[in-house]
Amino acid sequence: MAGDEEVLESTSRITRSREQARQSYNSMSRFYGFLSNGSEKRFVKTAVEGFLKPREGERILEPGFGSGQVLAVLARAVGETGKAYGIDISDGMVEVTRKRLAREGLEGRTELTRGDAAALPYADGFFDAVFMSFTLELFDAPEIPVVLAESRRVLKGGGRLCVASMSDQGRQGAMMKLYVWSHGKFPNFVDCRPIFARGFVEDAGFVITGYEIMSMWGLPVEIVLGEKGP
Ligand SMILES: C[S@@+](CC[C@H](N)C(=O)[O-])C[C@H]1O[C@@H](n2cnc3c(N)ncnc32)[C@H](O)[C@@H]1O
Repeated sequence: MAGDEEVLESTSRITRSREQARQSYNSMSRFYGFLSNGSEKRFVKTAVEGFLKPREGERILEPGFGSGQVLAVLARAVGETGKAYGIDISDGMVEVTRKRLAREGLEGRTELTRGDAAALPYADGFFDAVFMSFTLELFDAPEIPVVLAESRRVLKGGGRLCVASMSDQGRQGAMMKLYVWSHGKFPNFVDCRPIFARGFVEDAGFVITGYEIMSMWGLPVEIVLGEKGP
């Protein structure tokens, strides 16, 4: 275990309210897909195909689905007998994703909800897997364990959690310094900041079954796969 106190204390605070987050993502929702699709594609592909490995018939949840690129991949992977569920705080993101899923003929395999990843409106043990990319690291430090506890609660015994997150592990070069500076200067728009994702996931009680640190334009990105015990 990484040690709850240690991981929490080394994580910077975020003071933005839920309403501020909602408004900020609403204002980005129409062009967010253009910004994120290219840069994040490689990580999302590795995380989904190499780590999460979604299977036919599964129920999979994605908190903070953004413009819905992963949700569409998950919906295809779970097939006609499974379902991909998404929850996002931004009504703009929900709308953009709803249109995307309709265009791709995936409405029947998906269910979108506007809501908070820290208070999930699903029953205990409902999901086979939970996937989160570039979302866990935008929560305030004390909220990260709450989001992970909620993810764990809604997972079945043996269920998988896969997180792709900007990381404070690995080489913190000039790009990371610039990024962290931008985060300090424009926290509403550059809202993610590097965290020790694996430490948080371990401290939330998951058994780590897969781990990799990759690099996105010189910024370390952690991919963590955890399993809920029986
Ligand atoms: C940085 S974006 C990442 C989007 C997507 N996962 C990706 O990889 O491109 C973060 C997403 O989390 C959503 N979000 C922010 N706070 C949230 C909360 N409390 N509950 C659920 N979603 C939230 C935002 O609206 C946004 O869509």
